[in-house]
Order: sequence, then structure tokens, then C-alpha cells
Amino acid sequence: MADVRLHYKKPILHGDITVPGDKSVSHRSIMFGSIAEGRTTVSGFLLGDDCLSTIDCFRKLGVEIELNDTNVVIDSQGMKNWKEPIDILYTGNSGTTTRLMLGLLAGSSIHAILNGDASIGKRPMKRVITPLRKMGAHITGRMDGQYTPLAIKGSPLHAIEYTMPVASAQVKSAILLATLQAEGTTVIHEKSVSRDHTERMLRQFGAEITVENGTVSYKGGQTLHATHVDVPGDISSAAFFLVAGAMAENSEITLHNVGFNPTRTGIIDVLAAMGADMRIIVADEEAAEPTATITVRTSDLAAITIDGELIPRLIDEIPIIALLATKAKGTTVIRDAAELKVKETDRITAVVNELKKLGADIEATDDGMIIHGGSELHGASLQTYGDHRIGMMGAIAALLIDDAVELDDIECIAVSYPTFFEDIQKIIK
Ligand code: S3P
Repeated sequence: MADVRLHYKKPILHGDITVPGDKSVSHRSIMFGSIAEGRTTVSGFLLGDDCLSTIDCFRKLGVEIELNDTNVVIDSQGMKNWKEPIDILYTGNSGTTTRLMLGLLAGSSIHAILNGDASIGKRPMKRVITPLRKMGAHITGRMDGQYTPLAIKGSPLHAIEYTMPVASAQVKSAILLATLQAEGTTVIHEKSVSRDHTERMLRQFGAEITVENGTVSYKGGQTLHATHVDVPGDISSAAFFLVAGAMAENSEITLHNVGFNPTRTGIIDVLAAMGADMRIIVADEEAAEPTATITVRTSDLAAITIDGELIPRLIDEIPIIALLATKAKGTTVIRDAAELKVKETDRITAVVNELKKLGADIEATDDGMIIHGGSELHGASLQTYGDHRIGMMGAIAALLIDDAVELDDIECIAVSYPTFFEDIQKIIK
């Protein structure tokens, strides 16, 4: 665990950053390339620890995966030819790898054990296992499958109709991936729409899927065809610099190749509603995953309420939005976000504790937080809780204040943004 002392002394932030690949799309590119028979190529892949865990799992299943910088070549003989792994499938810190793998393996002919790090060991798995069991899956694990380690023995599956109790793309995706090997048509109803990368990639690989008014329908047994996946930049990574640019004095930052999938752009809606000075140029709205170039400048910000259907569209951005709200005039309320408690760490507790140490006027609620803007932030020693997004929130805060900020563990940032500190250096003037 590397300690670091960040003493940036309130620099002007100015310049350009090309954000690294989207974590959700990178995971899925490896999964889909491993399902489809033939050669799938990927560009713009995120070299984050989580996505490397996904590669490692599929190599253990016998899929040939070559990584050359951010380009990946996947040679698969199709999922019917995956091999039983002789080792545990280790998913590291990655909830996406753990939950989507369960869906993929449920209908296979494979027996496998999945395990991850200490944080994964605390994250709820029943939400995935319950619908998969309804489809006929055989999964066992600690506390009847609530927690890892989990054992899965592939079995014949049938489609289900399922209403999602929580908005979760990981649960939705696990069901959709299990349906690949199921009989019948799966129908999923979402109350609030979660990120739709799986649906988009199914289409990209040649499958037919319908999405209408929050209902996804997908017929099992369809064959996927190997293709090329161009991974967009991760808007969740861009978010840290969008907020930095809006908060720092005399600043202007341009972010290139930002994924602009409407199920992910809640952060843009929040910045706009708070009055941020932004310029957005969308590159290709028709692409499998659209991208945009976004310029943000120092802004006067006003508090807002963030809740309801907006929450799944920005769930990963709430730590950095909470920091943003410390500068907004008035009281920002974040609610309907109890899901934060089951992320890499309990992000309600972590955000509130750490922003308080920096001098923020913030309080936790059952399903979110309340931030009274306008307090002057100062230096402090912060904990990251081994959570990449809490670590990056602390580092961005360090850019905005005169004093030093200490962070207890910055290695976790490599989970989603291994070049984060290099990118900070690019914009310090
Ligand atoms: C993800 C879905 C979200 C998100 C996570 C990535 C995905 O999790 O928080 O970082 O790639 O499907 P939930 O499905 O738990 O909401």
C-alpha cells in the first residue's frame, strides 16, 4: 500500500486529456470475443487491473488472448470449447467480472470456482444468483451464494421473465449472457434503465435484441459473430477531470474520446444543471458506442437535487459529484442511491468521512448524502478504503487546495485509471 503526499498548491488546470478506455465496455469486449468463434479484435482496451482480471479468467478457460498495448486479439473456438479451469477464476476487485462470469458459466458444461479480493468477498452476489437459479443454474457459495467464493456447475438453462429489484447492469447482463445458452426468450423489466453496453454489444456481434420502454427481450441460442470492438474512453474516468476543470480557478480542460452513451451521461446532466461552462461535440451518434469531445471551464455552480432515474446513469460518479457539490452555492441533496453502500466500499460512509476531513459540510443519509456548498476545503490525511474512485476523489481535491493531501493507498486507482497521475501532470500549469 503506497502512501502519497500530494501538494499541488492550487495550480491552474489547462490542457487536453484523452481518457483511457471504458471499463464496462473493455470487460465485455473480452467476454464477447471469447464467446464468438473466430478472431475478435479490440482497440482502446483499458489496461486497468479489473479488465486484466477478466483477461486472466478467460485465458484460464482456454481462450487465446493477446494484448499489445491497448489492442487485443482474441482467438476463440467458441464457448462450447471452453476448458474447465484447473485453477480458481480469480476476479480481483472486479464486481463486473465476478457477476458476468456467473451468467456466462451458468449454461456451460464447466465446473469452476470464482473468488476475488477482500472487497469482492463483501459484495452481494444473491442478486445475480437468484435470477440465474430461476433459469436452472447450479451455483453454491458462502451464505447460500450471497458471497464469494462461489462454485458453479454449468447446467441446461431456460429463459425467464424477470423484474429487476434494483437497477444493476451487472445483474441484467448476467441474465442476458446466461440466456445465450438458454431455451426460450428472456424478458427483463427495468424500473430505472441501467447502462446498456451488453445490449449494444450483442447487436454488434450480430444478435437480435429488442429494447422498449424499459423492457429487454432476447431469444436464447443465438450465435455471436466475431468482430472488431472500438472501446470509447470512460466517462467515469473523464468525470474526475470534468469536475476538476469546473472547480479549479482560471481553468480549461478538454477531454477527448469520452464515451457518450446516454445511459452513462448523468454526470453531464448534473454539471449542466449546476451551471458548469461546458462545450460538447458529439463525434458519431450512430456508432455502437458514441463518443464526444468535452471542454469544461471554471464555473459558478449552484446546488441541485440528484435522485430517481438519474441515479443509475451516474452511480459511479457520486464520489466526485459530492466533491463538486462542496463548491456549489446552496444545498445539494443526493438520494435514491443506497446502492452506493455495496460498491467497492460503502461509498456513502467513505465519501462523507473523507470530505469531512477536508472541511466539507456534508452529512450521510440512508440512501445518499446532503452537502452544504461553500465551505473552504483544507489539507488532510485521507483513506481510500482500497476504492479507486475514493482515491481519485481525494487526489482531485488535492488539486483545488493550498495545503497537502495525504492518501493512504493509491495503488487501487489502477483498477480503472492506471495513468491517472500522468494525466494530472499533463494539465497542471
Ligand atoms: C457496471 C455496472 C454498475 C457499475 C459498475 C460497472 C457494469 O454496477 O457501478 O462500475 O459494467 O455493468 P451495478 O450493476 O452493480 O449497478
